[in-house]
Amino acid sequence: MIRDCVSTGLSMKTNTFTNHPPYVTVAPDNLPLVAPIYQSVKFAFDDVYEAERHGRGEREGYAYSRIDNPTLQLLQQTLATLQGRTHCLLAPSGVAAVSLTLQALCQQGDHLIMFAEGYGPTRVMVKRVLARYGVRHTVLSIEDHQGIAQILSTTPTRLMVFESPTNPMLKVADLGFLCKLAQQHGCVTVMDNTLAGLHSHGQYPVDVFVHSLTKYANGHGDVLAGAVIMNEALHAQLHPEFIAMGAMLDPHAAFLIQRGLKTYGLRYERACQNALAIAEFLAHHPAVGAVHYPGLTSHPQHQLARQQSADGGGVVTFTLAGTTEQANECVQKLQLFKLASSLGSTESLVLPPSMLQARDLKAEQRAWGGITDTTIRLSIGIEDISDLLSDLTQALA
Ligand SMILES: Cc1ncc(COP(=O)(O)O)c(C=O)c1O
Repeated sequence: MIRDCVSTGLSMKTNTFTNHPPYVTVAPDNLPLVAPIYQSVKFAFDDVYEAERHGRGEREGYAYSRIDNPTLQLLQQTLATLQGRTHCLLAPSGVAAVSLTLQALCQQGDHLIMFAEGYGPTRVMVKRVLARYGVRHTVLSIEDHQGIAQILSTTPTRLMVFESPTNPMLKVADLGFLCKLAQQHGCVTVMDNTLAGLHSHGQYPVDVFVHSLTKYANGHGDVLAGAVIMNEALHAQLHPEFIAMGAMLDPHAAFLIQRGLKTYGLRYERACQNALAIAEFLAHHPAVGAVHYPGLTSHPQHQLARQQSADGGGVVTFTLAGTTEQANECVQKLQLFKLASSLGSTESLVLPPSMLQARDLKAEQRAWGGITDTTIRLSIGIEDISDLLSDLTQALA
């Protein structure tokens, strides 16, 4: 069916019209409460000279969504503000956020420090990818303050990448100590703040925060995304590198994260309340050997955890007083806690001992982490606490 249509005063055939539909504008005093998704790769200019001015950075606007997009801008501003910084860059996953940041900051011959207690894929990225480009590294324990100080004073170090609390053993890094020491030696600090959340640790002079938005920010387990959050000077350095590497988040994914953030505070708070109740329950259970949760007063770094952040987080790790088979059986018997990777979703998850050990570490480095053959990690969701406790009770019986 081809017939004439009228759009913006031009007479067009159907196929022409459907590819050049009219623009709908919304008055500034009548804005939607939920920001629209700018699901457009291209942004057109009316004027060739304005397009040129935009290309030279002389005017505001958008040209191509791999470089900038209003939906991404909104999410970037929201995340930067939550983390107490001015700028943010987005990536298609948490691992991409870490990987792009480290690639953008390092060059051949640089040395970096990372930790045995850190997220495994970060180390693997350094060992597999950065090593190929001549970046050297040292792996230490996050508790080895003397070792960190010694390496920084003997080896010029471009950056240090760390987490707190660490995953899965929930050791608390002393952020004041790490940041001060790094600053003294001109070393950039990159903190993966995924577990502690966007509301935590902004008061410390960490140079770059990275987050897997896949976890608490989105919260619903249906989007992969990552963020890199920093101040203006580092943004000016990293932004062109990120554009050159080309890994951008899709606007629809950004919209879903923005939507998830509406309940971020409520979800995180509820997960922490549930986590504390579960940690206390486990601490008194005869089948449990040890509980690792920074919110428990028995945690060796409880005071430091309280100073650094307002809550204990939504992950609880415990060691069963028994055999690996019994630990696996306990995981099998859980019904509400699903056996799945990831954390920070609304539903509770569990990981067995075999899925917690870092495969890239030497035996000595693995020992620093403290993961045993009966260690189980729980990511706590927002379900009713009585149901979660009943499930754990029957699984531990
Ligand atoms: C601390 C931490 N950082 C980064 C990631 C990677 O996130 P993504 O799965 O979004 O790549 C994870 C995933 O489990 C994580 O736990």
